[in-house]
Amino acid sequence: MTYDLIVIGGGPGGYVAAIRAAQLGMKVACVEGRGALGGTCLNVGCIPSKALLNSSAKFAELSHLSSHGIAVGEASIDVPAMMGRKDKIVGDLTKGIAFLFQKNGVDLIEGWATIPAAGQVKVGDEVHETKNILIATGSEPTPLPGIEIDEQNVLSSTGAIALDSVPDHLVVIGAGVIGLELGQVWARLGAKVTVIEYLDRIMPGIDGEIAKLAQRALSKRGLKFQLGRALKFIEETTTGLKLTVDRVGKDKKEVIEADKVLIAVGRRPVTRGLGLEDLGIAVSPRGFIEVDGTFQTSVPGVYAIGDCVPGPMLAHKAEEDGVACVEMLAGETAHVDYNTVPGVVYTDPEVASVGLTEEALKDAGTEYSVGKFAFMANSRARSTGETDGAVKVLAGPNGKILGAHICGAHGGDLIAELVLAMTKGATVSEVASTCHAHPAKGEAVKEACLDALGRAIHA
Ligand code: NAI
Repeated sequence: MTYDLIVIGGGPGGYVAAIRAAQLGMKVACVEGRGALGGTCLNVGCIPSKALLNSSAKFAELSHLSSHGIAVGEASIDVPAMMGRKDKIVGDLTKGIAFLFQKNGVDLIEGWATIPAAGQVKVGDEVHETKNILIATGSEPTPLPGIEIDEQNVLSSTGAIALDSVPDHLVVIGAGVIGLELGQVWARLGAKVTVIEYLDRIMPGIDGEIAKLAQRALSKRGLKFQLGRALKFIEETTTGLKLTVDRVGKDKKEVIEADKVLIAVGRRPVTRGLGLEDLGIAVSPRGFIEVDGTFQTSVPGVYAIGDCVPGPMLAHKAEEDGVACVEMLAGETAHVDYNTVPGVVYTDPEVASVGLTEEALKDAGTEYSVGKFAFMANSRARSTGETDGAVKVLAGPNGKILGAHICGAHGGDLIAELVLAMTKGATVSEVASTCHAHPAKGEAVKEACLDALGRAIHA
């Protein structure tokens, strides 16, 4: 039998592409080697980290209830039980994808794939024939030279979502998305958490002003930041770990003691072992598979999407890539607008963004206006005690929204309105004239748009 499409990788990019291709009438198989569908996102990334963020948020909230007149005894945390809940959520969701495959007639081929030639995918000893191949192999943590990750004391995100007790002192290397989300999980549960960041700011790529608001709020919640520092090496001692850290641009070293270290300095594409070199598939110097506007690689009939191609490494971006790719394969018109891909950091407060930052607009010399609204002046945020942060919108001279950035509770939900507005080319005036329910945090979005027009009501 010859398949129409074999997808390599069962993460959000791959499994969604496989299901969509089946919906479009293709005979599809998906190859997955990890023993469960869902990829990094479901198994060891987005979903387990959100489960732990939720558990730890509930625990942390217990110590803030006295202002509500609620007294609780001293709370305790059973880490293995918390991990059990997380594992059940992950297990249920990954099994759900297997069910969706059955329902849509997608064949699951278990094992690790190689591509001996265009039109062939080899798994174990078996070679499967296919008209098209879609590589959706995702990404993995970038290692730091000279640092060995043992997942016991020196952790990647995979180890940091599977600890069996709360560490006394967790040092996080990298103030990016993973470091801050997982750093906050363990800080809420009682660990001392120190975040070491190479740059002089946290959350690279996020609007600088919003990142500063986030840093202030996260510091208030117990995270300690040491910026402008780079980890050099880690020594195991009888009492724990000794980290030597360089002050960037200064001839100065510091020693920090910790019992666990999380290395979260970025992710890199997974393309090794597929046989890309022998096939002649072009890969960039940073290891990303090069693709054209239809996601085709330099070899006809072989396509690639998601984290292993250039662009933001985000599950929802991979899904969009995958759907667009197979729709084009089926002869439909499809397009992914990378300017409107939102990004969310699920810390408390959440940080959410879409489009261009103020720094990018300045660098490009683009004319723009700014509208801002602080949650402190939003009545719903006041009533829930979630007053940290603000909404910031950036608009061009014609009023169209060029970028929107939120630091605040539920920012990850609030950004959807601004993503839709940008996708539809709406202006700040159009968003501002949309009726928003009261009292709601979404009113801060409306007020930020009004502010861009110079007429915020509650500012
Ligand atoms: P990141 O790129 O977000 O942040 C890494 C940080 O490490 C940067 O701030 C960088 O300056 C710093 N760094 C690099 N080398 C260093 C050194 N030697 N010493 C100190 N600091 C150093 O990477 P992260 O957090 O690992 O996330 C990887 C990817 O996973 C990202 O692309 C992210 O989009 C994705 N992701 C998305 C999530 C979400 O959407 N909520 C959740 C988790 C991951």
